[in-house]
Amino acid sequence: MYRFPRLYNLLLKLVHGKYLPIRYKEIARIIGKNKKVLDLGCGTCLLYKYLDTSCSYEGWDLNEHFIKNNKGINVKLKDAFDYNNYPKTDVIVISDLLHHITPRHEELIRNAQGRTKKLIILEPHVNFYTNNKIKWVYKLLDKMFGDDDGFNSFDNRSKWFKNKKEVYNFFMKFKPKMIKEIGLDYLVVL
Ligand SMILES: C[S@@+](CC[C@H](N)C(=O)[O-])C[C@H]1O[C@@H](n2cnc3c(N)ncnc32)[C@H](O)[C@@H]1O
Repeated sequence: MYRFPRLYNLLLKLVHGKYLPIRYKEIARIIGKNKKVLDLGCGTCLLYKYLDTSCSYEGWDLNEHFIKNNKGINVKLKDAFDYNNYPKTDVIVISDLLHHITPRHEELIRNAQGRTKKLIILEPHVNFYTNNKIKWVYKLLDKMFGDDDGFNSFDNRSKWFKNKKEVYNFFMKFKPKMIKEIGLDYLVVL
């Protein structure tokens, strides 16, 4: 699914249903107007169309298939860990990226937070891959329809928190200005 932007968007719709647009509308509402936005791990830039037109947008992702299909949006083939080259921003968005980069998720939050005024995070409070008894089935599904973007191993990614409580407790460490549930995700503002 990470090779084909349309398939990625379709599967996301199937997984999140009515919550898919709600996620991005809510992020765009919190961002507001006239803001410089950096979207780390931007994927197919689903957030972009919901932003107020007065905002400027830059998306970073390592996936060439997504970057090539940019439809005139300002996207760059760049690593979210390239902290020293972040542009000046008002807001950094990390949407559905942290569970792809475990165990470096906390490192990314701390560095992004130190380089912007507002950090908005959206991450799942579910882990589809924790059942070790039939790990090979999960691994196969992960490769075909899941989170295997080719940049981090299945074993690393399946270390994402096991349940809602663990995800909540993790985010509470950062003393968020806001944390709320949207469908399968937590939306967090730092
Ligand atoms: C689940 S997608 C989320 C895309 C988008 N933010 C969204 O809300 O739909 C995760 C994205 O993170 C990208 N990614 C993974 N590791 C990355 C890294 N170190 N730097 C930049 N992007 C990365 C993947 O290529 C993939 O497009």
